[in-house]
Amino acid sequence: AVERTLSIIKPDATKRNLTGKVVAKFEEAGLRVVASKRIHLSAAQAGEFYAEHKERGFYGELVAYMASEPVVVQVLEGEGAILKNREVMGATDPAQAADGTIRKEFALSKGENSVHGSDSPEAAAREISFFFSGLELVG
Ligand code: CMP
Repeated sequence: AVERTLSIIKPDATKRNLTGKVVAKFEEAGLRVVASKRIHLSAAQAGEFYAEHKERGFYGELVAYMASEPVVVQVLEGEGAILKNREVMGATDPAQAADGTIRKEFALSKGENSVHGSDSPEAAAREISFFFSGLELVG
């Protein structure tokens, strides 16, 4: 089925001017950017977005990092978009990521791993509405 997923190009990638290279990977895989904006999250906003990780040891570091530099948030659309996006990103830890994936090519570490993608249909719905209104989604 055609799905939509929420993608974030993280601070390590925007800072190194890799936005276009990351988007090219998604487009080459058949995903379409149907909404896109560059924003600088506050720590409160980053904390709310990642609330499910509150109890994890890396939460404070994750929130500070996501608020450290601008990010690009996008909605990607395509056949099986949620899984496809995760395949193109590669494993969370770049040391484990497959050749050709975004994280293998660009990520610096498990934390500074260049991209985020929704991990389920439920997460995609929540994360898309966290950043975008229906009017901003242009298929
Ligand atoms: P993401 O898909 O954005 O969802 C949660 C993020 O937490 C994850 O990508 C990683 O960037 C980050 N993360 C996961 N494990 C660790 C870790 N051990 N140390 C630092 N950050 C982590």
